[in-house]
Amino acid sequence: MFKKMGVAGPKPYPVIGNMMEFKNGLWDIELQMSRVKEFGGAYGVFGGMRPAYVVTDREFLREIFIKQFHNFADRSASTTALEVRPMCRSLTDLNNASTTALEVRPMCRALTDLRGDDWKNVRTTISPSFTGGKLKLMTDILNRCADQLVDNIGTSTRDGAACDIKELSSAFTMDAIAAVAFGTDINTQETPDHPFVVNAKKAFGMDLKNPLLWVYLILPKITKPIMESLQVSLMPRDCVNFFSGVLSQLMQQRQAGGEGRVDMMQLMMDAHTMRDEEEGEGGEAGGRTRGRKQALSRDDVLANGIQFILAGYETTASTLSFTMYNLATHPDVLDKVIREVDDVMKDRDTVDYEACKKLEYMEMCIMENLRIYPAAPRLARVATADTKIQWLTVPKGMLMDIPVLPIHYDPERYPEPDKFIPERFSKEERQKRDPCDWLPFGAGPRNCIGMRLAMMEAKIALAKILRSYRIALAPDMEVPVQLSKYTAFVKPEHGIRITVEPRNSGGD
Ligand code: HEM
Repeated sequence: MFKKMGVAGPKPYPVIGNMMEFKNGLWDIELQMSRVKEFGGAYGVFGGMRPAYVVTDREFLREIFIKQFHNFADRSASTTALEVRPMCRSLTDLNNASTTALEVRPMCRALTDLRGDDWKNVRTTISPSFTGGKLKLMTDILNRCADQLVDNIGTSTRDGAACDIKELSSAFTMDAIAAVAFGTDINTQETPDHPFVVNAKKAFGMDLKNPLLWVYLILPKITKPIMESLQVSLMPRDCVNFFSGVLSQLMQQRQAGGEGRVDMMQLMMDAHTMRDEEEGEGGEAGGRTRGRKQALSRDDVLANGIQFILAGYETTASTLSFTMYNLATHPDVLDKVIREVDDVMKDRDTVDYEACKKLEYMEMCIMENLRIYPAAPRLARVATADTKIQWLTVPKGMLMDIPVLPIHYDPERYPEPDKFIPERFSKEERQKRDPCDWLPFGAGPRNCIGMRLAMMEAKIALAKILRSYRIALAPDMEVPVQLSKYTAFVKPEHGIRITVEPRNSGGD
């Protein structure tokens, strides 16, 4: 097929296509770089029997993410999430068999998976949760979570012991997301086996060694209906069940109480209530079509609530802990960040919104870290109509597979790409850079909705930690850090082990 279209690419095998490209996982930078070198910035592959373009060319990326976004707004041609029902429901649902909870299929309604107008509606409704004004309201609670993180680092490193900062960061980000998204104080930092953590870890435990995942990826059209009819889920079912149950109860409590909160859950609930009112007036169709498009269904609220937890947990924790790894391996950069933190914090105790803005050098370090260790190694868009991008014909339904690593490690975009050089992200350098050269949060109107929250969380935690401690790598920590091969998100194979040295009187 690609030959006829004059598009280069590695030779596919029957049935499995080019899936062997992933035999060493998603983090094989050398292989990915060599493919781009051999076949160019837009080449063809088969994921199983399904054709896809692998795109790294800057001009093409700009067309896909930004200029022709109207034809590339979706990530897949059909929903990739399996329509599997959660088994346990909230107590009231169990008592009331007529509620819609019996038909809940949450993950299909999550923002990452929605398509077309559905996506636009839900995104428009959820976006106000992440404005500057809303983020400002979150800083106090994030500071409290970060104080707990600093205490935990202190306890874990008593008598000069090393701690795994990845583990501690994960507990911090779980507390943070539960607090800002649902107004719930779960304190997993003090209870490491909290069900929120156990279940979120299960969700991320799914890796590329799962044979079911491969069968599903190679033959989605055949396996999807079979798996759905057998109610087989790729994400462990008890994990979706757990979060659906908790969030259902939270929804009910709020429906009963109506406390006027300002968190993300409340914003979605308000949009849900609006839909209920409209359905009362004109049924499902009335709610969707009479111009008030943002009304959310109960499934929307549940699915996106679960997604906030999963999307905001490991990604932010790995960003925080890998940044600390990079700082610990570059003492000169660490010194500079500490000086900046001391300067910004000299007349405040809380890392407030203004302080976050002033931590410019720290931001450069986090951005450079995300270039080297992006949480997600691949992005996806699908053509919703036949589209021409320069010389490339993109038929409707074609998957555009965007590998982030060969872009972030391209020596023409980033000279000496293996080196950690935060100065690449100074204001001046950023202004010169193409928006599609740095993709840890994706690009265009469908980029990561939680980007600003994640950056703020990481800054608050880092500032609090560095105000109290100077960090160093533990003697037994491997350099360079080894990445887990078969995980979908970046993960240190053996954790990130650091030691700390207390700094006097909060930084003097
Ligand atoms: C450092 C932390 C994070 C990283 C590296 C990250 C990365 C990403 C990436 C790469 C995407 C896909 C973007 C694209 O296709 O263009 C994405 C989407 C998304 N992220 Fe994040 N993320 C982070 C934190 C968060 C947080 C804290 C939340 C929510 C509280 C969140 C919620 C989402 C959602 C809902 C989407 C789907 C957006 C849509 O389809 O409209 N993320 N993220």
